[in-house]
Amino acid sequence: MADTNKTAKLSFDGKELELPILSPSAGPDVLDIRKLYAQGDVFTYDPGFTSTAACDSTITFIDGDLGELLHRGYPIDQLAEKSHFLEVCYLLLYGELPSAVQLEDFESRVTNHTMLHEQMVYFYRGFRRDAHPMAIMTGVVGAMSAFYHDSTDITDPWQREVATIRLIAKMPTIAAWAYKFSIGQPFVYPRNDLDYASNFLRMCFSVPAEEYEVNPILSRAMDRIFTLHADHEQNASTSTVRLASSSGANPFACIAAGIACLWGPAHGGANQACLEMLREIGTVDRIPEYIARAKDKEDPFRLMGFGHRVYKNFDPRAKVMKQSADEVLDLLGIENNPTLQVAKELERIAIEDPYFKEKKLYPNVDFYSGIILDAMGFPTSMFTPIFALARTVGWISQWKEMIADPQMKIGRPRQLYVGPTARDYVDVENR
Ligand code: SDX
Repeated sequence: MADTNKTAKLSFDGKELELPILSPSAGPDVLDIRKLYAQGDVFTYDPGFTSTAACDSTITFIDGDLGELLHRGYPIDQLAEKSHFLEVCYLLLYGELPSAVQLEDFESRVTNHTMLHEQMVYFYRGFRRDAHPMAIMTGVVGAMSAFYHDSTDITDPWQREVATIRLIAKMPTIAAWAYKFSIGQPFVYPRNDLDYASNFLRMCFSVPAEEYEVNPILSRAMDRIFTLHADHEQNASTSTVRLASSSGANPFACIAAGIACLWGPAHGGANQACLEMLREIGTVDRIPEYIARAKDKEDPFRLMGFGHRVYKNFDPRAKVMKQSADEVLDLLGIENNPTLQVAKELERIAIEDPYFKEKKLYPNVDFYSGIILDAMGFPTSMFTPIFALARTVGWISQWKEMIADPQMKIGRPRQLYVGPTARDYVDVENR
């Protein structure tokens, strides 16, 4: 982070303060308010953090107006087209694209840590069969600190690295087993001769009764979906992981907190909610009714898969996802998929509608992902677990960056208190 010699002057209540202005390598300048309370005896007020930079980071940059997303400087559309998920994992974790030798070593370390501790099989059996896979993932990942306590000391760089590999390697197995458990099928163990995405598809869809051949186009689409969801700056679940980690909690507990936050329909749960909305709309002629509801202030309904805190233009991930949707549905011979027709017509109408233009509401990453996952055979309940699987590398990368920062301190926001001021207790007979 490059400091500048620029300052912002603040004058109030007879006080004159000068706040340093810090200039980033990209994006807006920031006012450094770290000394504001000490010098000015005031807090800033920013619920939802719409104008607040909570940290400095070198991992992901988003320009909401340009619709730009960079991972360590590389544009997401180039990575989605030319790279693959484990290479993007390496980039996010270590800051540079790997050499062939580095990539082979990294992929080998991940491949050889995909199995779960066998005792965890019994942990799954404690859930009801109809438990939502996100509930299972939150519980199982949180419990990993009980099974892998030799990689919970965050002050030990080696243990941090072991926890990193374990989480990235085991998340597909955890998610696939949550799916198998929910449909009453036996767990399928990972295979070391398959790539990351193919392994996940096989663990989800193969059964002991017959051989399962992974369709290379589907595994390429799956890998691309992982890449498009890998990291996204300081979104709600990443901020949750950072805040939980700032107390020194172990990485498994912090990632479980991130999974729990991602589950919300305003965040990662939107992909499930979006497909359910498209199905509820059902046909193109019912779209105007839902557009009207989305505009109605009295109606809590929102168009799921639309809008974004940062993107006030097209979400670059949605563009790539839209291309993948066409490819996958074309491959599966369901290019006239009614849900996809509704999605494309809804997108066209919404983008042309003055209300959505004024509010800058465009399709986000969750708009098309559900259509692809549905076409691949996943139930809607598995959409957010797949998002969590992919985002694990982003959470871990941001966690590593924060833990390694010598300036790190526990996150402890203040508040604007508007409750009762001090008053004396009143005995019940006098109330
Ligand atoms: C993800 O942060 C990230 O980076 C997240 C994510 C990631 O990769 O980590 O990108 C993943 O979470 C994508 C977003 C998925 N969520 C949805 O698709 C749910 C539907 N979208 C909305 O809930 C909403 O757009 C949010 C939560 C995404 C953003 O909300 P903001 O930035 O807080 O915006 P807002 O709620 O203040 O809305 C601004 C205005 C409001 O109208 P006014 O009060 O100004 O009159 O736009 C309206 C909202 O009513 N609005 C919508 C809308 N989204 C916002 N109106 C109809 N439909 C919508 N989807």
